Amino acid sequence: MTTLHFPPGFQWGTATASYQIEGAISEGGRGVSIWDTFTHQPGRVMGGTNGDTACDHYHRYPEDVALMADLGMQTYRFSVAWSRIFPFGRGAVSLEGLAFYERLIDELLAKGIQPALTLYHWDLPQALQDIGGWANRETVDAFAEYAAFLYEKLGDRVSRWITLNEPLIFTMYGHRLGVMAPGQKDLRITARAVHHAMLAHGRAVRAFRESGVAGEIGITNANSSFEPDDDSAETAAAVELARDFETRLFHGPVFGRGYPASVLKFYAERGAPFPIETGDMDIIAEPTDFLGVNLYSRQLIRPGGPTGFTSAPPRLPLLPMGYEAAPHSLGDFVRWVSKEYGNPVIYITENGVCDNAEPGPDGTIDDATRMELTRGFLAGLHGAIQDGADVRAYYMWSLMDNFEWAFGFTKRFGIVFTDFESGRRIPKASAGMYAATARANALEV
Ligand code: NOJ
Repeated sequence: MTTLHFPPGFQWGTATASYQIEGAISEGGRGVSIWDTFTHQPGRVMGGTNGDTACDHYHRYPEDVALMADLGMQTYRFSVAWSRIFPFGRGAVSLEGLAFYERLIDELLAKGIQPALTLYHWDLPQALQDIGGWANRETVDAFAEYAAFLYEKLGDRVSRWITLNEPLIFTMYGHRLGVMAPGQKDLRITARAVHHAMLAHGRAVRAFRESGVAGEIGITNANSSFEPDDDSAETAAAVELARDFETRLFHGPVFGRGYPASVLKFYAERGAPFPIETGDMDIIAEPTDFLGVNLYSRQLIRPGGPTGFTSAPPRLPLLPMGYEAAPHSLGDFVRWVSKEYGNPVIYITENGVCDNAEPGPDGTIDDATRMELTRGFLAGLHGAIQDGADVRAYYMWSLMDNFEWAFGFTKRFGIVFTDFESGRRIPKASAGMYAATARANALEV
């Protein structure tokens, strides 16, 4: 047995998102979001389910915060449902919606858990979608107003802010592939959505600085560790293209390097230019305080397809989500991203394992795959920190099983089991393991 010690002050937490856990979609003056609309369209979600009730966290939040405290969690990443605050995206405010988050935050602080607030985790107010959503530049203004409102109301209690969650996923899956809300398949709209989302990020960072709130702000991107399928120079070039289209597209402009030329060319050649106006890139490059890293796996890459890169057949065992069990990917990616962008402060804002283990005859849940892979992810992360990466926090996705978007309730990511019928929460074996790691600030491997 070896003990891997994390740096003093390293924080341990869990992460969730509004639509995936809250339920209570018609309470507290909440407006309709694009995920309400999408999930109620036939054929969009596995099993035809939706987030109408989800984990009923809106009502059960005291129990959920108590659970986190029992597990020794030091920080909690959650998102605010924009349409709980501005039911129509901008204009009229719902103070009842705001009050829910005030109660949640107060409960967290009372238990010594630091809130980390994500402003946008995919649930755009439907009223904004009705005028074009992220394809419309007006959504950028609406987002900046919403962000400024929350800084003013919650900035005295929240010091860690995340602008956007995974712009790669909500722009590509929502606007190009059509498998997530708003369910569009249009390259022109995709290019506009990408640029406006990144501009909204920059505007929210600017508004944060102007608000004078004491705290830190950053963006959370979706990542894979890209690996070549063979040793050829062509494959190495394809890996770089994969990084351009999926990683540098969202990191580059934040770190002042603009969008990759390869990506701009691809979209422009297909009649889908990025709608960049003078000054936009400076706004997006407004300096941030940390980089949020979400990572679940690696992707093996080979040349091919219209973009010049494509996925090679997986070689490692697959998890229920369809991607490889590749625990080395977290350390690998953190090393890469630290080097690429000059060693930024990093928070692992999401990492976790899909393991659909159910309660056994004695009622306990032995999620052995989650435990084994978590140990691997954390050991890899520890190695990257030893090598100099400035990682200061780790958030496990997720606190509890929840609504996994187009997969509905068929994929379980929680360290706490959610019985979606009764709403009952049961900590899994992994919760005990994770709690012990957090308490010791060290991993036993
Ligand atoms: C990333 C997303 O941010 C989150 O909403 C999702 O549930 C997890 N990955 C797991 O797929």
